[in-house]
Amino acid sequence: MSSLSKSPAWLAFSSAVHTSPLTADSLRILPAVDLEVDLSTQRYSVAFEQASAALLNQQGFEAARKGLFAGEAINWTEKRAAWHTALRSEHPPAGVASAIKAEQERLANFVDLVNAQNLYRNVVHLGIGGSDWGPRLAVEALAGVSSRRTIRFASNVDAHAITGALDGLDPLDTLVIISSKSFTTTESLANAARAIEWFTANGVSEPLEHFVAVTANPAAARAFGIRDDRIFEFWDWVGGRYSLWSSIGLPIALGLGLNALNDMRRGAAEMDEHFLNAPIARNAPVQMALSAVANCSVLGYASFALCPYDARLRQLVPWLQQLEMESLGKATQIDGSTLDVPSSPAVWGMPGTDSQHTFFQWLHQDGKGAPVDFVLCAKPDHQHTRHHRLLIANCLAQRAALREGKSFEQALAAVSQTEKDPVLAAQLAQHRVHPGGRPSTLIVLPLLDAKQLGSLLALYEHKVFTEGVLWGINPFDQWGVEFGKRLAVDIEKSLDAEDSESAVSAFDPSTAHWIRRLATSADDSHAYERRREERIARGQPPEA
Ligand code: F6P
Repeated sequence: MSSLSKSPAWLAFSSAVHTSPLTADSLRILPAVDLEVDLSTQRYSVAFEQASAALLNQQGFEAARKGLFAGEAINWTEKRAAWHTALRSEHPPAGVASAIKAEQERLANFVDLVNAQNLYRNVVHLGIGGSDWGPRLAVEALAGVSSRRTIRFASNVDAHAITGALDGLDPLDTLVIISSKSFTTTESLANAARAIEWFTANGVSEPLEHFVAVTANPAAARAFGIRDDRIFEFWDWVGGRYSLWSSIGLPIALGLGLNALNDMRRGAAEMDEHFLNAPIARNAPVQMALSAVANCSVLGYASFALCPYDARLRQLVPWLQQLEMESLGKATQIDGSTLDVPSSPAVWGMPGTDSQHTFFQWLHQDGKGAPVDFVLCAKPDHQHTRHHRLLIANCLAQRAALREGKSFEQALAAVSQTEKDPVLAAQLAQHRVHPGGRPSTLIVLPLLDAKQLGSLLALYEHKVFTEGVLWGINPFDQWGVEFGKRLAVDIEKSLDAEDSESAVSAFDPSTAHWIRRLATSADDSHAYERRREERIARGQPPEA
């Protein structure tokens, strides 16, 4: 069994992390395409740089990166490639180039056709996880630039989500996209079935004529009833959470235009080039990954916060949560041994400045704290310069405060201005001490457009890939999710079973209790009917 913690390169790396200062004394800003990644407030020293290079070497980084771009089966537990870089390359690798180009052309023709015929004022997108977060983020983040149609997203199996997404739309002017790599995902298929009912209930006799599918399982989409010319394909060698660059980007093309989708791909492809060619010490995703590993595995930070100082990037938080936590939330190395250093920090966050009024207190003064990724655009897409100035000021202020902290002496000097009792002043000053020394990264985009967004997402994708290499884990599988999905199938059957006692016998007492208690009974539908009638009587829509 291999022990990372006892390996020579790891021992050197961890001691370099401990001895490296968290310094803002010298700037360490890495240009990455048009982005600037400021790592000046992360641990760094010449020793850190040397130890990092040795660790990358020990963990086989060069070969792994080569394998990623060459389409090797680097997703070793599922024996397949993770070749999302091929999807956004201007010149995709031979072997997959013709398939990629053909699908891109089919998608472009479809978008051109619906635009030329002025079809579908509304698009409802049904997908979840990697088949949802990317397009949802892009459509929301870039909507201000050009929004051609109403694009709504429903991912959750909770019917309130799909009901809300369909509410008020004209069915005759609505297109539904089912996005699912596997085309077996319960949430997406249940929502698709609900959408069919909605079309039918609203007098559409051929509801499936209003559907398209994006999938790596075209046979299943066909069996569902989607026409061949309405099925856009991608492939097994594209990971679900990396599928945005395939036809999963359809809502972006329909909502913001084909150019937006292509510009995102271009920005990502340029980041691929940076990741491939920039020297390691100037390679932004690699250096971000090294800082992340130092923070989590050596300094013991169990999480990090993502705070985009841009309200349009709200969805970046869940997008990154899936990317980081579904990719890295595991601790088994390639040879089956357990990784013996802390890994895979939890990701959480919220846009600034809301986050300042929500959890920054904890970031500043809790004993544990967490590193923060700040994301900021140099230029906004509005004319309100004071707002933007305030946004920048707050972002930089929080970062500086986390780094610098406030000493007891500084706090005491401030308190003593008004509190003349020295004992009380000392007590009060203690409450105002900020430990400081908290690492952070600042990513600055020149502005938020499709190309910059593409670069930003690819930056994080490669950071996560590099962390996977450093920890020796496979960032491209998600067995943990599969296990829970399987149990949900059994529990759903029990909730609907005639003989509930024998149906629950396989479960632990608490699960069995709640299956009995929450089993969907006739009473529920009576209560629902009653509430529905009450809503109609009040002149409200029948569905909540
Ligand atoms: O969450 C598990 C997962 O398999 C993700 O990896 C994926 O993005 C999501 O479910 C949706 O899967 P699909 O695209 O097959 O519907």
